[in-house]
Amino acid sequence: TPAPPSTLIIFGGSGDLTKRLVMPSLYNLAKDGALDDKFRIVGVDIVEHTEEDYRAFLTETAKELAAAGNADVDADAWRWLMERTGYIIGDFESEATYDAVKARIAANEPESHGAVFYFAVAPRFFGAIADHLAKAGLMEESESEFRRIVVEKPFGMDLPSARALNARLLAAADEHQIFRIDHFLGKETVQNVMAMRFGNGIFEPIWNRNFIDHVQITAAETVTVERRGRFYDATGALRDMVPNHMFQLLAMIAMEPPNSFDADAIRTEKAKVIQAIKKPRPEEADRLAVRAQYAAGSIGGAPVKDYIEEQDVALDSSTETYVALKLEVENWRWSGVPFYIRTGKAMSVRKTEIAVQFKSPPHTLFEDTPTSSLQPNALIIRVQPDEGISLRLAAKVPGRAVRLAEVDMNFRYSDYFQREPSTGYETLIYDCLVGDATLFQRADNIEAGWAAVEPILEAWATLPGEIHYYRAGTAGPVAADTLIERDGFSWFSLDDKAGK
Ligand code: BG6
Repeated sequence: TPAPPSTLIIFGGSGDLTKRLVMPSLYNLAKDGALDDKFRIVGVDIVEHTEEDYRAFLTETAKELAAAGNADVDADAWRWLMERTGYIIGDFESEATYDAVKARIAANEPESHGAVFYFAVAPRFFGAIADHLAKAGLMEESESEFRRIVVEKPFGMDLPSARALNARLLAAADEHQIFRIDHFLGKETVQNVMAMRFGNGIFEPIWNRNFIDHVQITAAETVTVERRGRFYDATGALRDMVPNHMFQLLAMIAMEPPNSFDADAIRTEKAKVIQAIKKPRPEEADRLAVRAQYAAGSIGGAPVKDYIEEQDVALDSSTETYVALKLEVENWRWSGVPFYIRTGKAMSVRKTEIAVQFKSPPHTLFEDTPTSSLQPNALIIRVQPDEGISLRLAAKVPGRAVRLAEVDMNFRYSDYFQREPSTGYETLIYDCLVGDATLFQRADNIEAGWAAVEPILEAWATLPGEIHYYRAGTAGPVAADTLIERDGFSWFSLDDKAGK
């Protein structure tokens, strides 16, 4: 069913995010019939386009993206979208802009059920835009008209700045009007973690410290810092990935079953589990958190230079491009079960996955194959690419001798389901248009995430500590291996074969 008619105001309408993600997602939604005939889009930006130019500019990118994906743009769906797209030239910090926005919403009003303000802008504008919207009376809802804000990442740089931003947004709008994006939640496989855990009867009984040995969450990327040096060098892998994306994965795996599929029921359980992440003491931080930076190497045959040689990166930068952490979730279910997290850029493969390793059988029955020589059962949830789930089992090797080996039972999404091309933002945008906040971060989720990494950020800032290095195109620094091997475990291999 199409979302109710509304006006989508995109601040940063001429920016990269709008061109590359928001518009292509809207196009996919249009093609799907998920947008109402009376739906309207208005880009707002300082760039001086006529409305005509603006549409031409969006069309150009759409064609490029389609060509890169070897697809054609469905001309009808694109035209449909462009007929509903307008533009306002405006400074985000000037009142006149909001008068113009108000007029556009009013023009669409008799037909519309509300307006969504999408902040596709640099984070320094988030607060100001919210202030202006509130001042212009644009956040006031009525029986027939909703008002919502969509805020992109990064949401703050640390706990104090995230709190300050939440306070400022909450002064302008009510929590139910604020949709904070974590695009990992738009990924099918991330949502599938809930389907797997709560749509099946066999997992939940063993989903606890009695049966689970440890959990590993990996988000390895092959991309380097590319042209994002200015942002990335001031941010680093920990802030960029951990309190948001990695903790959302952790929350999906570790949360208690919610009472219902209601947005707040789910977000309450997530907040609880993120709040239960143990905060390391400052003197432990360097032992529980390994930071590393990539050095020259090669990825897929292409040479990569030292991180510090990248564009807009300081030559003496000690920003981490990789982080590995050992965490504990201090609650009844997970006490004593380590959660290892690693994420980095310029690694050997692109792979996001969650591996849940179970305990070994208590007793060795097969003398030729001591339990200790086999890896225990593990459930591996592959978030991307090659989306799916596999279960590592022991099986008998054919032959007279009774020997065991590890095998994988493998479910691949692509074997069962056909998927339309998507950016991952379609679900999120649609959900916002219909007012379903399940896949968005509530203020307490965000603050709990920052609170859990705050001691590490502080320790790293005060003790310069040691930054490790890894060659671009490898699986990360030796220090990260040491981190997990100290506990008698090792990282799941990044090689392509599932579960090995
Ligand atoms: C973003 C980070 O939020 O997520 C990027 O800022 C990172 O640095 C990206 O590359 C990863 O997302 P995905 O969807 O490519 O796994």
